[in-house]
Amino acid sequence: VHKSSIYLPDDLKQALGELAARSGRSEADLIRHAIERLVTVAEPVTRPSERTPEALGVRGPALVGVGVGPGDPGLVTERARATLLAADRVVVATTDAHSVGRSEMVVRAVAPTSTIVRVPYAIGANTDGRQASLTAVADAVIAALDAGELVAIALIGDPSQWTIFPDLAAAIGVARPGVLVTAIPGITSYQAVAAASCVALGRAGAPMVVTDDVGHLDGYLAVDGSVAIYKASTDGASLKAAADRHDRHDAVVGELIGLPGQRNVALDATADGPISYLATVVFPAGGPVPSGAGR
Ligand SMILES: C[S@@+](CC[C@H](N)C(=O)[O-])C[C@H]1O[C@@H](n2cnc3c(N)ncnc32)[C@H](O)[C@@H]1O
Repeated sequence: VHKSSIYLPDDLKQALGELAARSGRSEADLIRHAIERLVTVAEPVTRPSERTPEALGVRGPALVGVGVGPGDPGLVTERARATLLAADRVVVATTDAHSVGRSEMVVRAVAPTSTIVRVPYAIGANTDGRQASLTAVADAVIAALDAGELVAIALIGDPSQWTIFPDLAAAIGVARPGVLVTAIPGITSYQAVAAASCVALGRAGAPMVVTDDVGHLDGYLAVDGSVAIYKASTDGASLKAAADRHDRHDAVVGELIGLPGQRNVALDATADGPISYLATVVFPAGGPVPSGAGR
């Protein structure tokens, strides 16, 4: 019998022991947490910037997807930072559990006191492998939620765009239907690229397309809207040829935005070779291009 659970009935003791094993927290810590939740009277939400779960209007058990922007800590919103600081743990899904990934780097910069937990995710795997990875991330989150925690998962850019968050939220919704799952939007790399070059992503009546598949690029460029391309899905020569075909010579390539070595250059001045994975190409919505803006 652990001293910390001496007053508990046997079944509760056993459940507490199992939860401690699953969540990685000590029994004493879980008991303290439960008593805190029992005696704490939630404050009204007055100042969203306060770094407490109550001030954020979210308390455990809850899962919050937190968009942390493309890499520059300055592009993390105040609410995202407050949530990272208030969370009992911040999950970062990572392809290599031994390496500090980009989302972890941003979290460390803006919320250095947070408890970061790396959970492996096989991004390059087939559908079954990715599903298995998602289940592993969901299991880790569920264990923490069962311990009453406010769990944040940090995601590069925005949680709703090319991340595991929507699928994770659905999985948690099924496994723990009563638990609050929400997200804090983040700034995307295409927003950062367009801002640095002072060009338009959106204009009245014009569509805005974000894609990681250049298969339909000609169709998108034929319309006078903006097109943002993600994920290294092409090369400089093909993009320049497409720009020529549609007379769209105002495209910008943003590489390593907010990271060491960042570069924001006109497509015309880009090498013909492969566009790197951490690059975002933006064909702005029509209109005048400011000469040399932000480049
Ligand atoms: C899996 S998607 C992530 C999207 C992210 N959730 C968002 O909202 O922007 C990865 C792609 O985002 C773009 N990207 C992310 N961070 C970037 C950065 N710092 N600089 C340039 N492109 C970036 C690249 O096109 C990369 O291939």
